[in-house]
Amino acid sequence: MEVRELLKTVPIFAELSDSDIDSLAQLASRRHFAKDTPIFFEHEEGEIFFMILEGRVKVTILGDDGREVILSMLGSGDFFGEMALLDDEPRSATAIAVEDCDLLSLQRSDFEGVVASRTSISSALIKVLSARLRKANHQISTLALLDVYGRVARVLLDMARDEGRRLRDGRIAFRRATHQEMANRIGTTRETVTRMMKDLERQGLIQAEGKEFVIGPDFEKSCD
Ligand code: CMP
Repeated sequence: MEVRELLKTVPIFAELSDSDIDSLAQLASRRHFAKDTPIFFEHEEGEIFFMILEGRVKVTILGDDGREVILSMLGSGDFFGEMALLDDEPRSATAIAVEDCDLLSLQRSDFEGVVASRTSISSALIKVLSARLRKANHQISTLALLDVYGRVARVLLDMARDEGRRLRDGRIAFRRATHQEMANRIGTTRETVTRMMKDLERQGLIQAEGKEFVIGPDFEKSCD
């Protein structure tokens, strides 16, 4: 697909006219990052804004002791790298391609120009940033208020609701994240997640089916 066609698939540009999309297409470049490649690191200077066409990107904070806190998993249509451009501070987190990724990128001055010239883009940006703040608040309250069992249940429900698909029988199937990924989202160890998952499976609240987890209404009820 051509860059202009690809840009139309990015939700923050949904309201742009064809001629705006054409001018933006002149400025955007396509980039490929192989699975498990860092795109940038926390604390670096940031000069580029990224949009995800295909693949998943992990936004994460790496501790000096090798521990990791996953802030978010982003996918097709999402963008990242805007914060360093908007507030002129270093990168607030590390971004890593967790699958082969096709991205579009814009240089700082082009990003600033596009945002300044189109109010539809700035309001779309604010909407997404508000949604991210809501999610971060939810994550803070999960970490602060729930015990570790509650946190495991909560992260599963969040993944099911964010990334899952509803099956005909009402259950939800969603990506089978590794126990390590789940642990890194909720500040616990892989061993603890493994223990909790065995418990949930034993109670029949969750099933692993191929590359997916499946939860039913009982699971949702037990979390709400
Ligand atoms: P920037 O600070 O330039 O680099 C790291 C990027 O990760 C940041 O811009 C955002 O695009 C993204 N990011 C940071 N925190 C979050 C979060 N809590 N949820 C989703 N994305 C985030």
